[in-house]
Amino acid sequence: MDFQGHHLLVALTFSLLFLFLHSPLPTNASTNKLVEGVCNKTINNGDCINALESDPRTATTSELKDLAKIALQMAVANSTKSKAYIYDLLNKNHTQPIKQCSFWYGAVVGSFRSALGELDEDTLTANYDAKVAADGANICENALASAGVQVPSISTRNNYVRLYSSIGFEVTNDL
Ligand SMILES: *[C@@H]1O[C@H](CO)[C@@H](O)[C@H](O)[C@H]1NC(C)=O
Ligand SMILES: *[C@@H]1O[C@H](CO)[C@@H](O)[C@H](O)[C@H]1NC(C)=O
Ligand SMILES: *[C@@H]1O[C@H](CO)[C@@H](O)[C@H](O)[C@H]1NC(C)=O
Repeated sequence: MDFQGHHLLVALTFSLLFLFLHSPLPTNASTNKLVEGVCNKTINNGDCINALESDPRTATTSELKDLAKIALQMAVANSTKSKAYIYDLLNKNHTQPIKQCSFWYGAVVGSFRSALGELDEDTLTANYDAKVAADGANICENALASAGVQVPSISTRNNYVRLYSSIGFEVTNDL
């Protein structure tokens, strides 16, 4: 490399460094704007971002409808696993509050499923179904509380449902 070329390279390096240092860096440089906008309105911004970004498709998604699909698919998958977990628990420990929870998880999964199914047909219904999905988790939590028992593994899953319900509601709210 000749002398001039070297100078050019140094100058270029410095201008790039300057640009880098002076560009407004978002809190998380890799978080997609669409995700930020949606998660900001949910019950837990950080958990929402972590959840949505756990799907590799999220990073390249620029359409709200596509993000809604990802979020609701995730809600269905996650709550289906929770439902299976609680059914399994009921087999081992057949008590009234766990029985109620296993019943209501059927409703939770059903609501998320219909929200996902309505995405292309009726966004208002999708929005409503995503919201009511949390009801089942709340009723389950109340059933535990009124029986005076603590089942942390169920309560954790109730919080997942609340998170996905909140994400599902916000992501379908502007469609
Ligand atoms: C998040 O919401 C707050 C107020 O609700 C707003 O001031 C802020 O600009 C929002 N941030 C993003 C990244 O949307
Ligand atoms: C369900 O979602 C929560 C919150 O994103 C996550 O922490 C948990 O690992 C998920 N569970 C399964 C079984 O995928
Ligand atoms: C069975 O479930 C009840 C809640 O209904 C709980 O209090 C109890 O600790 C559970 N027992 C076992 C062995 O997990």
